[in-house]
Amino acid sequence: MKKYEPICYLNGKFVRKSEAKISLWDLGLLRGYGVFDFIVTYKGGKPFLLNKHLKRLINSANLIGLTIPWKLQDLEKKVIATVAKNKNNKEKVVRIVITGGETKDGISIGRKPTLAILVQARHFYPDSIYKKGIKVITYEHNREVPQAKSLNYTQAVKAVSVAKKNKASEAIYVYKKLNKVYEGTQSSLFLVRKKEIVTPDGETLPGITRELILSICKKLYPTSMREVTIKELLNADELFISASNKEIQPVVKVDNKVIGKGVPGEVTKKIMAEFRKFVNSGRW
Ligand SMILES: Cc1ncc(COP(=O)(O)O)c(C=O)c1O
Repeated sequence: MKKYEPICYLNGKFVRKSEAKISLWDLGLLRGYGVFDFIVTYKGGKPFLLNKHLKRLINSANLIGLTIPWKLQDLEKKVIATVAKNKNNKEKVVRIVITGGETKDGISIGRKPTLAILVQARHFYPDSIYKKGIKVITYEHNREVPQAKSLNYTQAVKAVSVAKKNKASEAIYVYKKLNKVYEGTQSSLFLVRKKEIVTPDGETLPGITRELILSICKKLYPTSMREVTIKELLNADELFISASNKEIQPVVKVDNKVIGKGVPGEVTKKIMAEFRKFVNSGRW
């Protein structure tokens, strides 16, 4: 059987993955200037919380000073059309990438931004991650434009490779000088202490999964978004990270410190169950 090749959208055309090409003078490539968003599907290929992701994408572009000609509805139509081109009822991940386009002098924004929509088969994490929990490391870094999903993930690439060397699944950005904890390289962070839920505020990406989890938590536990210290991180009763593809993953070890009893906690498990109920309901 012929291997399935995803169809992408690139600057107005649908093209096979192997035929999708951009200019070497694209500002995304030369300077890492651009933004993206990442969406998963459920229920046989239906993009999850698409509207919220597109709003964040447009906000990311604004935050880095990139003017784009597309309204939310234009982007929505393009994403739905691209997913439809890859129809096979299997779950997918969708990346929408917007860069500064082709630059004349290596630094000025191009005449037209590059818009690419990439679709791939969704990879699910093994059950053991959710049942046993994961180890994370701390990593010294604070993101340049924290509320934007900018293309520049240099530190994330480095941090994940350090995490792997330490047999950890994710790295959590901390800034020792200010005694602050932010988020994971590709995830939001939640702490549970005495049945209260906290997620770091301010200098973090407004995670779409985080927003949903916050609405679930608020109905069940005292919940807040505020500054979090490194000591609080290490002394939490329970910890978990969240992201579109990861969903909710319990954290049982930070560097060499075991969190709580070293297994996923009751509060985390309850929130995971409520999250699953919401996804399965299809009312999103
Ligand atoms: C830095 C960062 N924080 C948080 C998240 C989680 O965001 P979301 O829940 O919207 O997937 C991501 C996702 O990749 C991320 O890159």
